[in-house]
Parts: sequence; C-alpha cells; structure tokens
Amino acid sequence: MWVDLRSDTLTRPTSGMRRAMAEAEVGDDVFGEDPTVNRLEQRVAERLGKEYALFMPSGSMANQVAIRLYTEPGDEVVMEADAHPFHYEAGAAAVVSGVTIRLVQGRRGVLDPAAVRAAVRPPNVHHAPARLLSVENTSNRGGGAVVPVERCRELASVAHEAGLHVHLDGARLWNAHVASGTALADFAAPFDVVNVCMSKGLGAPVGSRLVGSRSVAERARRFRKMLGGGMRQVGVLAAAAEYALDHHLVRLADDHARARRLWEALAAAGYAVEAAPDTNILYFGVADAPAFVARLREAGVGAIAIAHDRVRLVTHLDVDDAGVARAIEVFASLRG
Ligand SMILES: Cc1ncc(COP(=O)(O)O)c(C=O)c1O
Repeated sequence: MWVDLRSDTLTRPTSGMRRAMAEAEVGDDVFGEDPTVNRLEQRVAERLGKEYALFMPSGSMANQVAIRLYTEPGDEVVMEADAHPFHYEAGAAAVVSGVTIRLVQGRRGVLDPAAVRAAVRPPNVHHAPARLLSVENTSNRGGGAVVPVERCRELASVAHEAGLHVHLDGARLWNAHVASGTALADFAAPFDVVNVCMSKGLGAPVGSRLVGSRSVAERARRFRKMLGGGMRQVGVLAAAAEYALDHHLVRLADDHARARRLWEALAAAGYAVEAAPDTNILYFGVADAPAFVARLREAGVGAIAIAHDRVRLVTHLDVDDAGVARAIEVFASLRG
C-alpha cells in the first residue's frame, strides 16, 4: 500500500469529476464564450462576496498577476517570511513585476499587524516604496495555520492605512473556511484581490481563481494574457472545479481530522512534532530529513523533506482512514 502524504496537489480526478469534465459545455474563453467558465466565475465570485473571479491556470500565476496589478518596477511587496511567492514561485515577482520582497517574520506563517506597520517605511528617496501586502491563508510553510478573520481585518487595515493594497493568497482558503467556520466572503472581504486554488484540497486537476472587483479582473485579464494564461476551451477544467466545489468542500474536515490523527500518533511515538495542525498540513523535525524521507518511501509512505531537518505531511482526497492507519504503523516502526 502506497500512502502519499507529500502534497494535496497529487490528487487525481475522481470518476464523477472526469464525467463532469467530459460532458462540459465549452467555448473559447479568450473570447469570453465558455459557458462553464462563466458559470464557475460567477459562483466563486458569489461565494467570496466579490464581483469577479477570473480563471487562472495556477496559483502561482494568480499570485503573480495580483502583484503585477498593484506594483510598478522598483516597488516593494511585504509578506511573511514563509510566504509562497517568496519561496516557491521561481523568483517570478522580480521578473514579472520587477519588485523587491520585504519579509516580515510571523508565527506559523501568521503576520503580526504591528510588525507589518513597522516594516512599511516612510517615503524616502532611498527606499523601494511598499505598495502591496500579501497574506497567506492557510499558511503552507506555517503548518496549514489558519489566519483568523479578525487578524485578516487588522492586517488589511494596517496596510490600507499605510497606503498599501492587500492581496490574499488563499490557495487553501477552503481549508481555513471549513476549519474555522468563517464564511469565505468574510475571509475575503478585507482584501483587494484574492487567489483561491481549486487544485489543492478541493482535488481539481488544474486551476485557480483571481477574485476581486470587475475593474481589477479586467486588468488582471490583460496580465493573464501577457503571461500566456489566456486559454481556450477551458470549460473542461472549470467543470472539474465546479464538481470539486459541489462534492469536495465539506469533506475537507475529514482531511483535517486525519492530519490531527497523524500528529497525535507522531507525538505519542516521540517525534519532534510542531504545533497541532489547524487543517491538513503538519511538520516534524528529524536529524536528517532527506534520509528519513527515503526510509519512509521504502516503507510505502510519501513525505517531503522541506529542509535538511524538517519533514512535511499533507492529507488530501486520495488518503483515506486506512492510509492514515498504515502511515501511523510505518512511523511507529521507524521509531522502534
Ligand atoms: C500557499 C500557496 N500559494 C500558492 C501556491 C501555488 O499554486 P500552484 O502550484 O497552482 O502554482 C501554492 C502551491 O502549493 C501554495 O501552497
């Protein structure tokens, strides 16, 4: 039995999802004529309480277009030290937008509003002017931590007062919503633009949405085209995302419960676990993470060495209770 806990992006479309994709009504989305895309855009926009939800090929492109929307070359973007656009987007902010990134240390990926305030420097000829704050909810490298809605409001208000726009990298906002019970629209409200991904916990094969006002979406459409992200009969992908919203949202609670079970078992077996997971991601420390991950793989469990001494596990649609039970056995055996 192979239990793949490396990432929630590994899920494969279910048969129901594949059927929905096969039967999707499609048109040319660059012409704005794909009915399934248009319907999904409307549904996601409504759920997030915004005017528009533009289809994006990936979360990275959605984040980068968000940065491009609110900056000019030489500007600065403020984000938490573990944020995805800094660690995992191939330096795109420097190339696509020509900006510098100012990192602010948070706790489990969650920023402190006072630290953000302190990081925004007053106008001065020496400084790259800060134009955008980016907040990640949930925080991937922060162990799937939820940024509570109150904290989102405080962060946005500090940034807006300092003259910055505010972007939410909500690649896993669905998880934050299910774990906290906070409405998606409440989470999104303080932000000028929001990225949500359909291809992580929701289990769609491709696609994110960049959500905001109609005018923001129109500008974003141009940058998406510039980056080669204008796609044609993309309704086959929108149908998968729509299916995921209908069938895979509520069940994220199962992933969260399974992550918690894994965490408890690892703690009980004496692993150096980090904080108990809020959602579907957990980390623990080992002396030699790549070697440990190789042993796990031989025993049938997939994990990622995120640093030389840190391992990440992620629960998702393709890992059930039996898989978690098997992983727990393997972890126990590797301690023994
Ligand atoms: C927090 C966060 N933001 C953005 C992304 C980028 O998404 P994609 O892999 O679709 O480019 C990821 C990917 O895992 C992520 O974890």
